[in-house]
Amino acid sequence: MKNLTFLLLLVITSTATVHAEDGHQLWLRNKSSIPVHVSSSRNSPVLEIAMNEIRNNWLGLKDAAIQLNITHDAAITGDGYRLERKGISAKTDLGLLYGTYELLRRQYLGEPYDKFTSSPSYSRRILNHWDNLNGSIERGYAGQSIFWRDGETTLTVTHEDTTLWTEYARTNASIGINGTVLNNVNASAKILTAPYLKRVQKIANIMRPYGLKVYLSVNFSSPFTIGKLKTADPLDPAVRKWWAAKAKEVYALVPDFGGFLVKANSEGQPGPQDFGRTHVDGANMLADAVSGYGGIIMWRAFVYQPSEQDRTKQAYAEFVPFDGKFRKNVILQVKNGPLDFQPREPFSPLFGAMNQTPVMAEFQITQEYLGQSNQLVFLSTLWEECLHSDTYQKDKGSTVAAVTDGSLHKNTLTAIAGVANIGLDKNWSGHIFAQANWYAFGRLAWNNKLESQEIADEWIRQTFLNAGDQSKENNLVKPVKEMMMQSREAVVNYMMPLGLHHIFAEGHHYGPAPWFANPKVRADWTSVYYHKTDTIGIGYDRSRTGSNAVAQYHEPLSSQFNDLATCPEIYLLWFHHVPWTYRLKNGRELWPELCYRYDSGVQQVRGFQRSWDKIAGLIDAARFSAIQSKLRTQSRDAQIWKDACLLYFQQFSKKEIPFDLERPVHDLDALKILSRSKTYD
Ligand code: GCU
Repeated sequence: MKNLTFLLLLVITSTATVHAEDGHQLWLRNKSSIPVHVSSSRNSPVLEIAMNEIRNNWLGLKDAAIQLNITHDAAITGDGYRLERKGISAKTDLGLLYGTYELLRRQYLGEPYDKFTSSPSYSRRILNHWDNLNGSIERGYAGQSIFWRDGETTLTVTHEDTTLWTEYARTNASIGINGTVLNNVNASAKILTAPYLKRVQKIANIMRPYGLKVYLSVNFSSPFTIGKLKTADPLDPAVRKWWAAKAKEVYALVPDFGGFLVKANSEGQPGPQDFGRTHVDGANMLADAVSGYGGIIMWRAFVYQPSEQDRTKQAYAEFVPFDGKFRKNVILQVKNGPLDFQPREPFSPLFGAMNQTPVMAEFQITQEYLGQSNQLVFLSTLWEECLHSDTYQKDKGSTVAAVTDGSLHKNTLTAIAGVANIGLDKNWSGHIFAQANWYAFGRLAWNNKLESQEIADEWIRQTFLNAGDQSKENNLVKPVKEMMMQSREAVVNYMMPLGLHHIFAEGHHYGPAPWFANPKVRADWTSVYYHKTDTIGIGYDRSRTGSNAVAQYHEPLSSQFNDLATCPEIYLLWFHHVPWTYRLKNGRELWPELCYRYDSGVQQVRGFQRSWDKIAGLIDAARFSAIQSKLRTQSRDAQIWKDACLLYFQQFSKKEIPFDLERPVHDLDALKILSRSKTYD
């Protein structure tokens, strides 16, 4: 009987731990009533938040006394912190807040928290929202904007708005993110008009105590779009005056405003070149407008023209001659790869090459080219690969991490940006596992040496387990982590293995369309431009005898990429046009290897489905089945990728798909029709 009562109790408590969850709380699911005494050496809104977080989430000894102290400790830099048994010390209030979240995270994870020091890798850790002022989000897959909406209430700040913005600010602070760009890089000039700036002010007021600086994307033609000027020429005194006055207006409303993000002369956006001026003229003019207030300009290097020149070479060609010519408060924002957020690209050669200009990496958290919010892809491994890439600019060890975090070129303006995957969806990111990418971005921005394994581990425990739960190590933590760690390689396999890139369907960028070639569309927006398949082989020749993009990399990389025999196979078809019969390191010829890669991607996703099904009952049913259903979609779509690509490329290779592989289940013609719609339902 006693045993039965015990069993019953166990069942009740274990079902209590799997109650329905909608994912809204992200990785901040803790609530604790263990009493603790918190004090701080001074008062501020930031410290008020820190103390309340400790009171509400303390998982240490009952009635412990915790102190938050300002220190001058030289081992701590910026908003870093030190955790000790008696409390947290930092140089700034924000340092104490970040230390608070670290302390609580460590308690939740059951890690020691009495001797730990940490300082941020980058001083600015920023989310870029591609949110339009009508509430839609460019490349957003989790509902409408949390900041903007259409209709009559556009500019009214509601109670729901402030609640959501506070949750957003807190979530970001919990992982060390300290900046947010509120609107799309394809910016509407309207953002700088008085009514919108009023709303920006209200958002900034909510973000401030959580340490989030607000930034805005601006449209270069604003002086004539919303001002009364006839030009936006950056060297025109009236234009300079206009921007100076605008900056003054912004800073009067938001004294700690971060600065402007600018997409200029890129994909049809206006820019200084429209007036015969350069990127330097444009960026420096804006930099002068904000410098008196401590503002910065993040000038994007994502530029390319519909020209004969290999698209991937253009940003480097355009910006390197300007190295050292920008004002001190300008930082160049560079996408991780030279093309556009593909499942795999080599790092952009601009990293390291601009050694007298601060350069920041732009990662894409929203999965525009990686299955959007339908597919489980843990992006931390992709970003880690980029950060760890050695540029060799100053000898071995000149990694992208080192050239961007100031350790190599000793610049003090350091930053990193991630294009947000956040919308009004209840779970914020559309897919529960997409939350892990928001989390990973913040963690890597804080510490660019963290490993994806650790980040995944932390995220899984906070997202799916209760504090201190050690019982699900082998049946949950381990398999879910394996799945996350493999997921990026899987998507590369079923979408674009061996260095293939940009063979997406036009417009939506979700499914495959390697056949896409339209004379009415600029060549570098078609798929055939990138894979260049013919009866001889496949791939883009960027070697010295091809477009010579390899020349933009420092030696020994340049020669390594140039030579088919030494080029890493993950980048093979990125740098070379390779014959179908070329033998790879594993002894297989290119065509069968391509087939095996596509197939293995599909098999990996099938494996994810099996792993996930096994954890049924170990987490709440709502999130379990939402993810199960997403995995089914991913599995179906991985099959579509494999079938479309193999059947299409087979027309050129004229070879059989190896007989030990499962055959395609779709017809090529049907897939061509299907590719016009994003959802294959
Ligand atoms: C991609 C994306 C666009 C975006 C652009 C950018 O090309 O498809 O929607 O505007 O990148 O980063 O500016």
